[in-house]
Amino acid sequence: MSEFTFLAGDAHWWRQAVIYQIYPRSFADSNGDGIGDLKGIISRVPYLKQLGVDAVWMSPFYPSALADGGYDVDDYRDIDPRIGTLAEFDELIDALHANGMRLIADIVPNHSGSGHKWFQEALKAAPGSPERDRYIFRDGKGENGEIRPSELASHFGPTAWTRITEPDGTPGQWYMHLFASEQPDWNWDNEEVRADFRKTVKFWCDRGVDGFRVDVAHALVKDLSNGHLPERQSYDVSVMKNDGTDDLFDRDEVHKIYASWREIFNEYNPPRMAVAEAWVHSNRLPAYASEKGLGQSFSFDMLGAGWDAQRVHELAANALQRAKDNGSSNTWVLSNHDIIRHATRFGVDGQFDAGKWFKANRFNPKVNVKQGLERATAMTALLLALPGSTYLYQGEELGLQEAMEIPDELMQDPQFFRNPDLGLSRDGCRVPLPWVANHKWFGFGEGGSHLPQPEWYKNYAVDVEDADPNSTLNLYRKAIGLRKGLETAEELTWIKHWFSKTILHFKRPNGWHSITNFGTKPVKLPKGRVLLSTLPLVGGKLPANATAWVQA
Ligand code: BGC
Repeated sequence: MSEFTFLAGDAHWWRQAVIYQIYPRSFADSNGDGIGDLKGIISRVPYLKQLGVDAVWMSPFYPSALADGGYDVDDYRDIDPRIGTLAEFDELIDALHANGMRLIADIVPNHSGSGHKWFQEALKAAPGSPERDRYIFRDGKGENGEIRPSELASHFGPTAWTRITEPDGTPGQWYMHLFASEQPDWNWDNEEVRADFRKTVKFWCDRGVDGFRVDVAHALVKDLSNGHLPERQSYDVSVMKNDGTDDLFDRDEVHKIYASWREIFNEYNPPRMAVAEAWVHSNRLPAYASEKGLGQSFSFDMLGAGWDAQRVHELAANALQRAKDNGSSNTWVLSNHDIIRHATRFGVDGQFDAGKWFKANRFNPKVNVKQGLERATAMTALLLALPGSTYLYQGEELGLQEAMEIPDELMQDPQFFRNPDLGLSRDGCRVPLPWVANHKWFGFGEGGSHLPQPEWYKNYAVDVEDADPNSTLNLYRKAIGLRKGLETAEELTWIKHWFSKTILHFKRPNGWHSITNFGTKPVKLPKGRVLLSTLPLVGGKLPANATAWVQA
C-alpha cells in the first residue's frame, strides 16, 4: 500500500490545483478488449506529467453492469475486472505519486448497481425485512399493488419506481431509483448503509487515495417519514426548496453523513479532500464545502455562462465570494463526462440548450469549429488564471469536439433510451481518446473502441498535436506550467475597462494579469511581459475570442 511522505506535507494542495478527469473506459486500452483500463492509464502517466496536472479524478472503476457507465456500482471495494485489479490500482497510485500527482476517486453513495450483493439479497428477502430496508422498497397502490407508489420521475425519465417479482413469482413491491432502474437508491436512514460507506471511504483512504468526488452528494437523505413519498417531474434546481427542507434533495441532515466522513478523512496526513457534486441553490453550496464536511463543492455556474463578459464576471465574482465566506476555494468546470464538450458549445451562437441542439444536430452538427475552439481555450485560460482549482476533462486539452456520429444502436447512455422526448446522449464526450493519428483505433488500443471514434479524430490525435507547437495540447501544457510558477495569494482585483463591456480583465496579487476579449475588435494589452496568448497577437493587440496573460 502506498504511503508517500514526500506528498504528505501539503494539506491544502487541492485549493489551487489543476485536476484532470479520466473516464477510465475511454482513456487508454492496454489489453485490446476495446475498454480502457488501469494499465492503459499507467502507461500514460508520463503524458499526464507532461501536461502538468496536479491530480487525476477517476470516474468509477468498480465492478458494474455498466447500465450507467459505471455509476451503477456493484461492489464499492473492488475493481471491475475489465478495468484491472486492486494490485494495478496500487500500481497506478504509486506511479502518480512518484510523479507528483494525486488521485481522486469517484464515490457513488446515492444508489448502488442492481448487481450489488445487498440489492440481490433484498430481492430474495421478504417485504419489511432488514435486507429490504437497506433500499427504498414500497408497496404499490391499487387493488393488487399494481400502481406505482408515487408520481416521481427519474432523472433519466420516465419513472423512479420499478416493480419487482417476489421470490415466489408473484408481482411484488416497488423500489425507488432516482436514475436508471439498475441504480436502486440506498436508504440512508439505515445505519448499516451508513457504516458500510464509512468502511468504503476508509478502504480507499488506506489504499492511498488522496480524495473523493462525491456523486449526487445532495440526494442521499430523503424525507420518507409517515408514509410520505415525493412526487415530482422535474429535477431542476429551480423547483427545489432552498432551506434544507426539500423532501428529496439537499436536506440539512445530509451533512451529518459528511461530517462522519470528515472524521475519517482527518485521520490521514494530509487529510483526504472531497468535492461534492451538488446541484443545489447557490446559498446552499457552502455547507458542502465546509471544512467540517466535504471541504469543497463543484461550482457549475460557468456551464451556463455562454460567451458573455459581464455574465462571466458576475458568476466568477459570486462564486469567489461564496468560497471566501466559507473558507473553501472555488472549483471551475467547463466540461465533464455529463455535458457536451465546451469546444462544441462555444461553436454555437446564442444560449446553448443541450437537448434542443442535440436533437436538431444529431447527424449534421452546425458548429463553427474555429470559433468554438478559440472561445473554449480562451475561457479555459481565463479560468486557469482565477483563484481556485480547475477541473479539466480528458480530451479537452486536444480541443476535441463532441462526437455526434454515434448511431442509435451503439449508444450506451441510459438517458438516451429512457427519455426519447429529450433524446440527449452523453456518449459523444465519452468516445475513447485519439492518441495516434495513423492507427486503426487512433492508438486507443489494439482491439477496437467501445464507442465509435469519428474519422476527424485523427486531426486531434496526441501525436499530431505533440509535434505542432501551436496545437491546443501545447497551449494547455504551457498554460498549466506557467500557472504553477505564478501561484499567488487567493485574491484578485477586477480591472474595469470603462469603454468596453466585452473585455474581462483581472489581476492577481503578484502582478499576473488575465485579459479576455469577448468582443470583435483587437484590444490593447496592459503593460508588461506577455506570458501567454491563446491566439497570436495582431499588431501587439489581443484579437477577438482570445485570452492573454501578462506579467506586469
Ligand atoms: C454522474 C452521472 C451519473 C449520475 C448518476 C451524476 O452526477 O456524473 O454520470 O449518471 O450521477 O450516478
